[in-house]
Amino acid sequence: MSLVERLEGKRMVVVAGSGGVGKTTTSAALALALAVQGRRVAVVTIDPAKRLAQALGLEELDNEPRRVDPERLAGHGLEVRGELWAMMLDAKRTFDDLITRLAPDERTRDEVLANRIYQELSGAVAGSQEFTAVAKLYELHREGRFDVLVLDTPPSRNALDFLDAPERLSSFFEGRALRVLLAPTGLAARVAAAGTGAALGVLRRLTGVDLMTDLGRFFRALSGLIDGFRERARAVGALLADPATAFLVVTSPEREPVAEAIFFVGKLREADLPFGGLIVNRVHSLPEPAPQPAAVAAALAEELGARTAAAVAENLAAHAVLAARDARAIEHLRTTLGVTDPVVLPNLDAEVHDDVPALVAIARLL
Ligand SMILES: Nc1ncnc2c1ncn2[C@@H]1O[C@H](COP(=O)(O)OP(=O)(O)OP(=O)(O)O)[C@@H](O)[C@H]1O
Ligand SMILES: [Mg+2]
Repeated sequence: MSLVERLEGKRMVVVAGSGGVGKTTTSAALALALAVQGRRVAVVTIDPAKRLAQALGLEELDNEPRRVDPERLAGHGLEVRGELWAMMLDAKRTFDDLITRLAPDERTRDEVLANRIYQELSGAVAGSQEFTAVAKLYELHREGRFDVLVLDTPPSRNALDFLDAPERLSSFFEGRALRVLLAPTGLAARVAAAGTGAALGVLRRLTGVDLMTDLGRFFRALSGLIDGFRERARAVGALLADPATAFLVVTSPEREPVAEAIFFVGKLREADLPFGGLIVNRVHSLPEPAPQPAAVAAALAEELGARTAAAVAENLAAHAVLAARDARAIEHLRTTLGVTDPVVLPNLDAEVHDDVPALVAIARLL
């Protein structure tokens, strides 16, 4: 059964895995494959490589899905019966939109958005990119404009950062530290009242930045948002655990990503999150029966000359080593995870200058 068939009935597909294994590429290809099947699909990508962005026509960064022109995909032998929409996530914009939605009134909203501390924080809060990714997904889900949403995940060092993000952010907002700061007799008030006030006064005169006022205003404004944030983080967590959601784990056949994929699938199962399948990307393989380098060199010598034929044979031998390694990696994944049918995607020729054919090739395999 193809992956697309296995994803029947899913409304949300989260594509996770360690850095650089092909999450963004497979997200886009999967979205295309689902659109070919007649579904209206939106893929939320994060930092797509330039060529992929171009293939999807994603030159504009407006944080809303845009329809991928079917013309762009026509002529590659795939008929898109549904619709393919794509967007590049803009973490800061998403965070701002979230504040706008959750703010109890316009004043609070403007105060938070214009606040210097917020401007720094919204980019810097640990996991804010991970959080905004799911926050955006949640918005799109609620709007209900699409049959399926495919979420590419940020290039976290650790794919688990992504799972923890809603939790981490809500505990930040619920956190003791924040409450201490917010209390009328809390740290913020005391710092302002104490000698530090004088130092800050000097700072203000020198720099024009009134740090304490900014900080105080920020936390006061934010306090009106905390309930909304907590609620949102909970809803996002529930959405990730929903049976109509599927987590796909992507890995390359290399040792570290494989280890991380195994760990990540274990965590998904532990947390009772819906694991939807394993994708092993950039796999090297040889045709059956495998050609022997010596035989290849002999067969090509006349046409190409002995030196070129020997170089081809050498190349083939090196490829065979990689193919053997990749086969072992897949076997290891199968037995360790008990996954009988991982999706295996070939390592495509890197010389392709237009990424549409690559996307189409991968979509076919899904
Ligand atoms: N099957 C493949 N064959 C050849 N090249 C590939 C394949 N899949 C992905 N790539 C290339 O590998 C690079 C990384 O892919 P991609 O950006 O999809 O990975 P990622 O997991 O999203 O990375 P990051 O963690 O940085 O977001 C890109 O240059 C992409 O074109
Ligand atoms: Mg990526």
